Amino acid sequence: MKIPFFVQEFTNEMKEAAIDALRNESFVNGESVSKFEEEFARYIGTKYAVSVNSGNSALQISLMALGISADSKVATPTNSFIASANCIRMTNAQPILTDIDARDGGIDVSSITEKVDAVIPVHIYGNPCDFDSVKTFAEEQKIPIIEDACQAHGATYKNKKVGSLSDVGCFSFYPTKNMTVGGDGGMSTTNNEEVADKIRSIRDNGRKTRNEFDKLGFTMRLNTVNAAIGRIQLKHLDEKNSRRREIVSIYKENLIEDCILPENENGKSVYHQIVIRHENRDKIREELTNDDIGSAIYYEKPIHLQPLYLEYDYKLPNSEKFAKEVLSLPSYPSLTNDQLLEICEHVNKVIS
Ligand SMILES: Cc1ncc(COP(=O)(O)O)c(C=O)c1O
Repeated sequence: MKIPFFVQEFTNEMKEAAIDALRNESFVNGESVSKFEEEFARYIGTKYAVSVNSGNSALQISLMALGISADSKVATPTNSFIASANCIRMTNAQPILTDIDARDGGIDVSSITEKVDAVIPVHIYGNPCDFDSVKTFAEEQKIPIIEDACQAHGATYKNKKVGSLSDVGCFSFYPTKNMTVGGDGGMSTTNNEEVADKIRSIRDNGRKTRNEFDKLGFTMRLNTVNAAIGRIQLKHLDEKNSRRREIVSIYKENLIEDCILPENENGKSVYHQIVIRHENRDKIREELTNDDIGSAIYYEKPIHLQPLYLEYDYKLPNSEKFAKEVLSLPSYPSLTNDQLLEICEHVNKVIS
């Protein structure tokens, strides 16, 4: 493809860190794991960070550690990856799917009309959601907040990193994310020692001490080699996020109509996805594809319209309209300015 939608990054520094960890450390629970956790907690600004094997696991275990179970109802927005809702069902709780803010695709808590036991706002596309409204809602209902920050490593809301705003923050290191571990991986961040201890135990079969197990758990640890790669990626995260913001400025300067989704007014996005919204979305995509330029639709089918969720029979009009109009343009840091101008030229042909 002339300009791919996504390019996987693999550097010598990542390779050396991986080989060093494989040669010198235990494959599981090596010292790179605790170092990565310490560094990630420091970066996000929480007391604890506990690594796991995916973002999905981070969400699921965090809910379990907060006591979410079969009697619980948990709200989450429908414009997200399926894991934001599946994690609720994996605890046997009931998902309450919410509609979205029509401007930026984030959670709209005013669409939650019943009492829930927890809420999972998603910082979708790397853009912080309207967290003040979520906080007010959670305070009124006296319930915990679990941030799905799987797409938002380094994003801030009122100058605080997302993942540090609530009871627990959850991150994914899937290879397309702003930082990866060279495979699947995830992290839960929290200031609550008891919750951190529970997450640590549940990711390791419910272990209490070396030979004692006091709760149900999984094998959901992050491998040492992935943690070693994650440490390298974390070191370069800020410079790569800055390049993503530069890329957005170039799109904004060169698109004849500013159809890029707005950044939260109290936040700073890390533009995991650079999303345009236009009624001629399908024509824009066709124009790009015809010249071998990648693009993607997140999310073509909102969660409530997925086969697994049809039984709940939701109608969420903002999300359904949004899904017909959004298109993600290439956003990775290694895109050249010339490539960006070429993408803009094609988009302009349709929107002019
Ligand atoms: C918003 C959101 N939540 C959860 C996840 C799940 O993360 P993982 O793929 O690492 O399980 C993802 C990853 O795609 C995501 O984008």
